[in-house]
Amino acid sequence: MRPLPRPTRRQAALLGAAAVLCAAAGGSALTGHLGVALTVLAVFLAGLLGLVLLLARRLGALLAANRKTQRDVRSVLDQTQRRVLGAVEEMLLAAGDRHRELTDALAAQQKAAAAGTDRLLRAQTSEVEALVQLFQGFTPRAPMPSSGGFALNPTDLLDLLHLIRSRRPRLVLELGSGTSSVWIAYALEQTGGRLISLDHEPMYAEKTRSALAEHQLTGVAEVRDAPLRPVVLDGRSFPWYDVDAVADLRAVDLLLIDGPPEKTGPDARYPAMRVLEDKLADAATVVFDDAHRHDEQQALRRWVETIEGLTQEGEALGRHAVLSYRRIVRQHGPVDEISSRSSG
Ligand SMILES: C[S@@+](CC[C@H](N)C(=O)[O-])C[C@H]1O[C@@H](n2cnc3c(N)ncnc32)[C@H](O)[C@@H]1O
Repeated sequence: MRPLPRPTRRQAALLGAAAVLCAAAGGSALTGHLGVALTVLAVFLAGLLGLVLLLARRLGALLAANRKTQRDVRSVLDQTQRRVLGAVEEMLLAAGDRHRELTDALAAQQKAAAAGTDRLLRAQTSEVEALVQLFQGFTPRAPMPSSGGFALNPTDLLDLLHLIRSRRPRLVLELGSGTSSVWIAYALEQTGGRLISLDHEPMYAEKTRSALAEHQLTGVAEVRDAPLRPVVLDGRSFPWYDVDAVADLRAVDLLLIDGPPEKTGPDARYPAMRVLEDKLADAATVVFDDAHRHDEQQALRRWVETIEGLTQEGEALGRHAVLSYRRIVRQHGPVDEISSRSSG
C-alpha cells in the first residue's frame, strides 16, 4: 500500500487549528465551562462548514472545467474524424476517377489495337494476293529480292506492272533503284521497253546492278549513279539527282518517282516533275510512290496546279498516285505572227 501523502502547510495548520479547537472544547467541557465549550464547538463547526462549502465550490469548478475539457476534446475528435473521413472520401473518389480513366484508356487502346490488327491483316491479305498475281506473270530466273519496307509494296508493283503491260512504254525512268527495278525489267522484257534507274547511293546502285545481272536483265535495264546535287527552284535549294545522269534521255513515257528518300530533306521529291518535264514524251504516265505522305501530297498538289497537261488519274491500288501527262503545244500560226509584228 502506498503511504498517504504528507499534508501541506495549510492542511497542517487547519488540522492543528481543529485539534486546538477540539482540545479547547474538550478542556472547557471537562472543567465545567459548558458555555465556552459550546462556543468553541460552534466556532469549530462554523469553520468546518466554511471548509466544506469551499471544497464544494472548488469541486464544482473542477467538474465544470472537466466537462469543458471533455467537450473540447470531443469537438477536436469530431473535427479530426470529419477531416479523416473527408480525406478518405476524396482519396476514394480520386482512386475511382483514376480507375475509370485507366479503364477507359485501356478500352480505347484495346479497340485501337484490334482495329490496327484488323487493318494489318487486311493489308497483309492484299499484299499476299498481289504477290501471288505478280509471280503468275513471270517465272524469275533467280530468287527475287524482297519487296515491301524500302521497296514498292506488292500491291504498288502489281499496279505498276499492269500499267507497263497495258500502256507499253518504250522508255521507263525510275528515280530510286531496288527490287522494283528487277520487276520492271521483267515486264519490259515482255513488252519491249527499256529501263533507266537512277540511284544516289553507289552501294545500292551496285546492289541493283548485281540483281539485274543475276536475273539476266542487263540488256533491258541500266542503273546510273546520280549523286544528289543542289537544284534551285523558286529560290529554294533541294538536294536532287545530278541532272547530267539524264542528259541523253528523251521521250520518257513512264516516270516512276520513288526517290530520293524522305530522309534526304523536306520535299525531297518535289523537283522531279519540275526538272524532268522536258524529258517526258508528249504523252506520258507518272507513277508517284508514297503519295499519301504530307510532303508528297504537297508536291502532287503543286505539280497539278502549275504544270500544264498534268492530271491525277483515279484511285490507284496501294500507296502510289498515277498521273497522266499530255504536252500542250502552243500553236503560233500566221495570224499570231502578223498580229505580233504589227503590234511591235
Ligand atoms: C524508296 S527506295 C527505292 C526503292 C525502289 N524503287 C524499290 O521499290 O525497290 C529509295 C532508295 O533506297 C535505297 N535502297 C535501295 N535498296 C535498299 C535496301 N535494300 N535497303 C535500304 N535502302 C535501299 C536506294 O538508295 C534507293 O534509291
